[in-house]
Amino acid sequence: MNYISIQDIDDINAWIEAAKAIKSNPLGDVELGKHKTLGLLFFNSSLRTRLSTQKAALNLGMNPIVMNVSGDAWGIEFGDGTVMNGNTAEHIKEAAAVVSQYCDIIAVRAFPTLTDKAKDESEQVLNAFAKYASVPIVNMESATGHPLQGLTDALTISEYTTKPRPKVVLSWAPHVKALPHAVGNSFVEAMQKMDVEFVIANPEGYNLNPEITKDTPIYHNQAEAFIGADFVYTKNWSSYEDYGQIKNTDPNWMITNEKLGHAKFMHCLPVRRNVVVEDAVLDSDASLVIQQANNRTYAAQLVLKKILEDLQ
Ligand code: CP
Repeated sequence: MNYISIQDIDDINAWIEAAKAIKSNPLGDVELGKHKTLGLLFFNSSLRTRLSTQKAALNLGMNPIVMNVSGDAWGIEFGDGTVMNGNTAEHIKEAAAVVSQYCDIIAVRAFPTLTDKAKDESEQVLNAFAKYASVPIVNMESATGHPLQGLTDALTISEYTTKPRPKVVLSWAPHVKALPHAVGNSFVEAMQKMDVEFVIANPEGYNLNPEITKDTPIYHNQAEAFIGADFVYTKNWSSYEDYGQIKNTDPNWMITNEKLGHAKFMHCLPVRRNVVVEDAVLDSDASLVIQQANNRTYAAQLVLKKILEDLQ
């Protein structure tokens, strides 16, 4: 069993209930991962994913080992048949096979280029590990998805909703850098699996991949989208249609207390204060960002638990 995408979740409500059970007794399966090793390979920076996934592994009795691949390992070649006389020193065929001998599960973080859409959508790094490793693979944020975050967000909404069918808005917000679509994509996929009223708000030119958003309503007027919202999930992403470009930095899209009304505020973190969201929101009881980050452990633990059970 791999955990590559939100589409690997067969029944999101069952997964949420299982994550809640883990949260109520995090050490309940501490024997399950005994003598098993989790390898965490980071091609990009991380705070939450890096620590919460290790914490999840430790709660299951696993031994996590971590490598910053980009900084510390040999440059990995992903091309088939490449004459390796450039900067790459080791092919993914050998690298994945070797790491598979040290680890029972391999977790990978590899962000998109945001310049080569076809390459990013091919999920070159993640799929190469899935192809050449002989052990299960977990996606810790790839070019197009962040399914550990999406599962976390579904769990958090389930915990904090006061209604059987809350209204959830995914709102784009401005940013100074071109950011990936992965968090937005996985959040969309998670909400499409949940029983929520779900809409997206983003400026013209910022629609996410239509193959992912499908028939989810998209508003280009943020105020209209926010009417009756119970949860506002905020994230910046660069343009998908003008791939990787920053076309809009309009500060009027920043999230404020006034816009939120009674809605709860969510964000995957890290977040730039007073660019994406004003201080007053993050410093208020409306903000769930710390609770969300806590849930990263239990989402990861559920995924690792399912894989370990599958390996038995
Ligand atoms: N939300 C999230 O994935 O955080 P990190 O990038 O710090 O891991």
